[in-house]
Amino acid sequence: MTEPVEEALRRELERLPEEVRAHTERVLDEALRLAARHGVDASKVRPAVLGHDLLRVTPREELLRLAGEMGHEPNEAERAEPLLLHGRVAAALLRERFGVDDAEVLNAVRYHTTGRAGMSDVEKVVFLADKTEPDGLAHNPEWSEVRDLARDDLDAAMLRALELYLERARREGWTVHPDVVGAREYFERR
Ligand SMILES: [Fe+2]
Repeated sequence: MTEPVEEALRRELERLPEEVRAHTERVLDEALRLAARHGVDASKVRPAVLGHDLLRVTPREELLRLAGEMGHEPNEAERAEPLLLHGRVAAALLRERFGVDDAEVLNAVRYHTTGRAGMSDVEKVVFLADKTEPDGLAHNPEWSEVRDLARDDLDAAMLRALELYLERARREGWTVHPDVVGAREYFERR
């Protein structure tokens, strides 16, 4: 049976561009596959995936404004690329408007772009599915290695994903978000 919150999130998704809806469905397929394989709670994975990109197409100035309203002072990386805030702001929306109070669901939404030290398996599944859904792999073929690792070992897949992200960030000159650095250190030690 579908939870009312999932129905409400699906209705909200219908207001978003087809691109975001199709991405969300592909992430859902991938995330539920990973959850089944690793014994992760699908009832947490589903609302997290349905909510993760609700603010993906919100203009950058609006994300900065909403984060400010939440009392969040953007860091250097978030000022350079306000899109980094879309997970944090979506998590707040899920809590305030959709009544989601499960910390794992909220953190999976909040950290789906950066990762963080101490991620739960729900968070790892959402992060990895977001990066390795088929269309994403078509654009970034090197991420198929991450998808293959994720079948057997979520932590190994996280480490490789973070390394690939950091290599790209170096090439492109991106300011790296501190949560990415924290996540890489965390998975290196595991
Ligand atoms: Fe996202």
